[in-house]
Amino acid sequence: MDFKFSEEHEMIRQAARDFAQNECLPGVIDRDINHTFPKEQVMKLADLGFLGMMVKPEYGGSGLDTVSYVLAMEEISKVDASVSVTMSVNNSLVCYGLQEFGTEAQKEKYLKPLAHGKKDGELYIGAFLLSEPEAGSDATSQRTIAEDKGDYYLLNGVKNWITNGGTASVFLVMAQTHPEKGSHGINAFIVESNQPGITIGPRENKLGIVASDTRSISFQDVKVPKENRVGADGFGFKFAMHTLSGGRIGIASQALGIASGAMERAVAYSKERKAFGVPIKDHQIIQFKIADMATRISAARLLCLQAALDKDHDRDYTTSSAMAKVFASETAMWVTTEAVQIHGGYGYVKEFHVERMMRDAKITQIYEGTSEIQRIVISRSVLK
Ligand code: CAA
Repeated sequence: MDFKFSEEHEMIRQAARDFAQNECLPGVIDRDINHTFPKEQVMKLADLGFLGMMVKPEYGGSGLDTVSYVLAMEEISKVDASVSVTMSVNNSLVCYGLQEFGTEAQKEKYLKPLAHGKKDGELYIGAFLLSEPEAGSDATSQRTIAEDKGDYYLLNGVKNWITNGGTASVFLVMAQTHPEKGSHGINAFIVESNQPGITIGPRENKLGIVASDTRSISFQDVKVPKENRVGADGFGFKFAMHTLSGGRIGIASQALGIASGAMERAVAYSKERKAFGVPIKDHQIIQFKIADMATRISAARLLCLQAALDKDHDRDYTTSSAMAKVFASETAMWVTTEAVQIHGGYGYVKEFHVERMMRDAKITQIYEGTSEIQRIVISRSVLK
């Protein structure tokens, strides 16, 4: 067993690092303050082939493995978690779901431009619509209805907390088709976001990942062609769960990146800042904090890579992705809080970045399944 990365992995990591430093770092504080969606950065991600990283080349993707995706997500999240969540949703929730379960016609029409990230020179990304105002963790209790009308479905309902909600051209929408069948009555649908009957809510005013685009979306009598259902009738809940298992690798890597970005900043600051006559890195209390940060980040990285390898080798990754997500997101919250503490008052102002990282870290414990949901997934697997 060898933990060495291939030359290709190193190249991907370097490309992501360069992108983060050259394209994301300038302006990251302003975009956070002004709630500006990083459209220019996301367009450049498309040019790099980072919006369809794991999609096969015949469907317009980069044909890379999940390990490459983890490396790229970590590097970009070190600098800008609003850019990386936009990338993560398109890669692992939208493109991956369509590649795995879409028909050839769906892949031709939707996956190709989504994997490219552009259509006719314009940004073309997707969003994953599962959560509702009263159905988050309890995903089977959703109320959005897709009524079978013969050659089309009629979609009615409201979806909440949708990343890329106002930017996406394609929505993957989960809805009840046979409510009496519970989780077996849910279907997934491809819905073009410019259809009549779709109302996009205002951008949510969030604690963190402020520059990313989060909205509620409502559907009123939206006609969805029959051929836009993904998978067999009633497969939608399993589609969502399976897709989310891969999404959780993306969010775990995002959390890992936020944590390692905050640690890099804390280390640099501790070498410069003097207190009691010496750089603060010479105080044991700071050394121990840094030691714990490095250890937890290393463990989080190994869990992310384990989940990625499970996926790449066609092993079940439901449990390993849940472990990676819960551990990496709790690491991110802890490391960023300590990074603020190490910076003292400077940590509490925007110029030093760590306060943003601390705010950004929080969502990784909530979206794509809360830490509590991950523990349910893990304990069910251990205790079964
Ligand atoms: N892969 C495939 N199938 C799965 C699965 C998986 N990972 N997990 C469950 N299933 C299947 C089960 O086997 C079961 O099938 P059968 O009935 O045929 O046996 C079926 O799905 C129902 O499963 P459960 O009985 O386990 O369902 P449950 O109601 O107990 O819920 C849960 C399980 C794990 C709690 C699930 O509801 C869950 O993960 N909730 C969290 C939802 C979530 O992550 N939401 C995030 C929103 S998306 C988001 O944040 C996007 C964004 O924009 C960033």
